Amino acid sequence: MRKPNLILIGAGGHARACIDVIEQHDQYRIAGLVGLAEEVHVQHLGYSVIATDYDLPELAKEYPYAFIAVGQIWSPDSRMRLYQQATELGFQLPAIIAPTAHVSRHATIGAGSIVMHGAIVNAGARVGINCIINTRALLEHDAIAEDHCHISTGAILNGGVCIGAGGFVGSGSIIKEGVTLGKGCVVGMGLSVRHNQADHTRFVGNDKT
Ligand SMILES: CC(C)(COP(=O)(O)OP(=O)(O)OC[C@H]1O[C@@H](n2cnc3c(N)ncnc32)[C@H](O)[C@@H]1OP(=O)(O)O)[C@@H](O)C(=O)NCCC(=O)NCCS
Repeated sequence: MRKPNLILIGAGGHARACIDVIEQHDQYRIAGLVGLAEEVHVQHLGYSVIATDYDLPELAKEYPYAFIAVGQIWSPDSRMRLYQQATELGFQLPAIIAPTAHVSRHATIGAGSIVMHGAIVNAGARVGINCIINTRALLEHDAIAEDHCHISTGAILNGGVCIGAGGFVGSGSIIKEGVTLGKGCVVGMGLSVRHNQADHTRFVGNDKT
């Protein structure tokens, strides 16, 4: 059966990583990428940048599915804005799960979220909408990544951890079991978080904590 068309909104490094997962997932045909005006016609892994953000209303008439494929570190704002715009235009935003990932049947993954190669989302865990669960990240039992979070490569959310909406956890960082981070927190790479953090905390090493 012919696969439904999906457009990727974003044309950078994270978009290329998403392409690889979507190809392996094998449920959608990538019809093209949406990027900046100067990127139109550029090819990424064999797919063209076919349009810019301004063309999304037209694209929505032609393509049923979209996926937000821009990255996120300091701020979730671009991803949130694009997600809202895409849903308002009537695109459907599927959850994409790499076949090399393990998502427990007792876990939930929200619309527009991606679980990338080798990630594990264990029993009772919950991933909100428009999240990135990056390569080899681990959400242990009952861990929560609220909407619009990015859990980076190799990061570990131990049992019962909750990352508030719009949060970022850097590569290889470990959050102690049961710890809650408020909304919009940023945890740099390679750090350990042992205590709850208030909304919008920047946890970025000794100099900036
Ligand atoms: C937290 C972060 C965003 C800060 O970026 P920044 O504002 O550009 O800050 P800098 O990198 O210039 O760091 C300034 C200082 O803060 C401290 N610092 C920043 N991030 C740190 C970290 N993760 N661990 C320890 N100290 C850190 C250091 O003292 C650093 O000074 P130095 O460069 O002389 O060592 C960045 O360091 C980081 O961790 N990025 C996430 C990378 C990542 O996980 N990417 C995942 C992609 S999937």
